Amino acid sequence: MVTVTQMPEPKALELDPNLVAAGANVPLSRVYLAPMEGVCDPPMRQVITRHGHYDECFSEFIRVTTEPIPYKSLLREVPELEHDGKTDSGCLCRVQLLGDNAEAMAVTALRAVELGAKSIDLNFGCPSRFVHHGGAILLKEPELIHEITARVREALDPAIFLSVKFRLGVMSASELTTIVNAVAVPGVNELIIHARTRKDLYKAEGLNWPAITTVMDDETSGLCHGIPVVANGDVSDFASSCQCRAVTRCQRQMVGRAAFGTPNMPQVLRGSEDAMSLASVLDVAWEFGVELQKFGCPEKSTMDRLKQFLGYANKYRFKEVLAPFFYTFCRAQTLVEAQQLLSTKKTELGA
Ligand SMILES: Cc1cc2nc3c(=O)[nH]c(=O)nc-3n(C[C@H](O)[C@H](O)[C@H](O)COP(=O)(O)O)c2cc1C
Repeated sequence: MVTVTQMPEPKALELDPNLVAAGANVPLSRVYLAPMEGVCDPPMRQVITRHGHYDECFSEFIRVTTEPIPYKSLLREVPELEHDGKTDSGCLCRVQLLGDNAEAMAVTALRAVELGAKSIDLNFGCPSRFVHHGGAILLKEPELIHEITARVREALDPAIFLSVKFRLGVMSASELTTIVNAVAVPGVNELIIHARTRKDLYKAEGLNWPAITTVMDDETSGLCHGIPVVANGDVSDFASSCQCRAVTRCQRQMVGRAAFGTPNMPQVLRGSEDAMSLASVLDVAWEFGVELQKFGCPEKSTMDRLKQFLGYANKYRFKEVLAPFFYTFCRAQTLVEAQQLLSTKKTELGA
C-alpha cells in the first residue's frame, strides 16, 4: 500500500536558536528507525540501515488477535530473525506486536525470541480506525495496557529488551500520566512516546514535545521509574533533533517519515555528517529498487515503492528541487524507465 499521498503536508517546525544551541549539548545516546507499516518493510530496513547507523530498527507492527502468531508468519514479517535478528549491516530489528490479548501477545513474543529476537516492542500508538481494538485506542484502557505489558514482561527472559510505544493520549495529553503509570512496569526497558494524541493523527499542529517533559523523571518525580524515554515525532534534521532534546530532555530519539530523504540520518542528528546530497539519495532509491527485486517484489509493486520512497524524500526534504522530477517519475511504468530517469536527473545535478 502506498501511503505517502495520504500524509498531511508537513509544516516547518518553528526553531528557536537558543533551544537548538542548548539541545546540542544534550548527548544523543540512541537513534532508532521508526516502525512504519507499508513503508519500513524488510527491503527498506536493509537499505536504510546500510546508510544510517541506527542503534536499532523496528519491524512493521505484527497484528496479534486471539491466537499467537505462527513461527512461519513471524519469519516472513521479520526475515532478520534468520540472521541473528539483524539486517545485513548488523542493525538489530526489534519485533513490534500490536494486539489486545495479553496471553497471545506473550506467547507471540516468546516465539519471536525463540527465533532469535533480542528485543520486543508493544504498539499502543497506531491511530488507525481499521485496527479493531488495538494500537492507540487501547490507551483509553489503562488496566488493559498494564496487563498486556506486565504479562509480556513476565513471560520474557529478563535479558530480552522490552519497550512500549504509545501516544500522549487518545484525545488529550492530559491522559499521559495515567498511561505512563500503566506501562512503566518494572523490567520494561524503554518508553517510546510519539508526541501527538490519537486524535491528532500525524497533523503538524498536533506535535507536543513539551508534554513528554511532564512525565520525565527528575528530582521531584519518578513517574517513569528510571525507564529511559525515547522522543518521537517530527525529528527531521540536526536542528530539530537539538530542539527536541532541549525541550524533552530525552537522549534517545526515533525518526520515521524524514528517514528516507536523509538516509544517513543518525550521523546527521549526531552532527558527525552532513545530510546526504540529492544525487546520493537518488542512488539509495535505486538501491532500494534492486533490494525489492531481490525480495521477489513484482515490477509494478517495485515501481510503486520507488515512488513512495521518492515521495517521502520530496515531501520531507527536497521539495524545491525534487518536485518536478517526482511528478515525471510518477508517470514511469517500468524499471528501465525509472533507471533512465534517475540517471538523467543525476547528470543534471552534475553527479
Ligand atoms: C505510513 C506510516 C506507517 C506507520 N506504521 C507504524 C507501525 O507499524 N508501528 C508504529 O508503532 N508506528 C507506526 N507509525 C508511526 C511512526 O512510527 C512514528 O511514530 C510517526 O510517524 C512519528 O514519527 P515521525 O514524525 O518521525 O514520522 C507509522 C507512521 C506512518 C506515517
